[in-house]
Order: sequence, then structure tokens, then C-alpha cells
Amino acid sequence: MTTLISDTEHQDRTVHRVLLGKKQVLVTEDEPLLPQLERSGILVEYQCREGYCSACTIKLLWGKVDYPIEPLAWVNSGYVLACCAIVKSDIEIALL
Ligand code: FES
Repeated sequence: MTTLISDTEHQDRTVHRVLLGKKQVLVTEDEPLLPQLERSGILVEYQCREGYCSACTIKLLWGKVDYPIEPLAWVNSGYVLACCAIVKSDIEIALL
């Protein structure tokens, strides 16, 4: 369930849950998924961090993400480029 959290860390931001196996991470729409996963101790492989290489591809099992700037790397349906995807709903992911 997407939630509006108002506290000193999240400051009235919409927060979404990212499910990865038995882990749950709360993320905002303020920055891409990759750095938020990293701060939670979830390491995703990456190279360019700008949407060119597709090294950060992860599987999107359900939920919605958006790309403020369309990445140059090809993204197959059901996959996400974590370095440039903004989470727009609660999602469930799997690392490759
Ligand atoms: S790290 Fe290169 S596309 Fe994400």
C-alpha cells in the first residue's frame, strides 16, 4: 500500500514499498530506485548509472515505474533499469 509519510526523513513524501524476496524497502519518487536500494544494503550491478548500458536491469514482478528521461538502453517488458527508474507504486522486484 502506497503511503504518504510525514516525518523528518520523508517530509510529506509519497512512499512506496519495494519487495525483494523477504526484504521490504521504502522508497520515494525523489530519485531513481538504484541509490535507494543501495542505501538499504541491496547491491545491484551497475556501470553507467545513466540508462546506457543496461547493467542495472532487474526483474519487475508487479507494480509501476516510470522514466523521467527515456533510457537509451533497451528495456524488455517486465524488466526495469534501476539506475533511472522512478517507482510509482508499490512494486516487487527480483535481482538477476
Ligand atoms: S547502470 Fe547503465 S543503464 Fe543502469
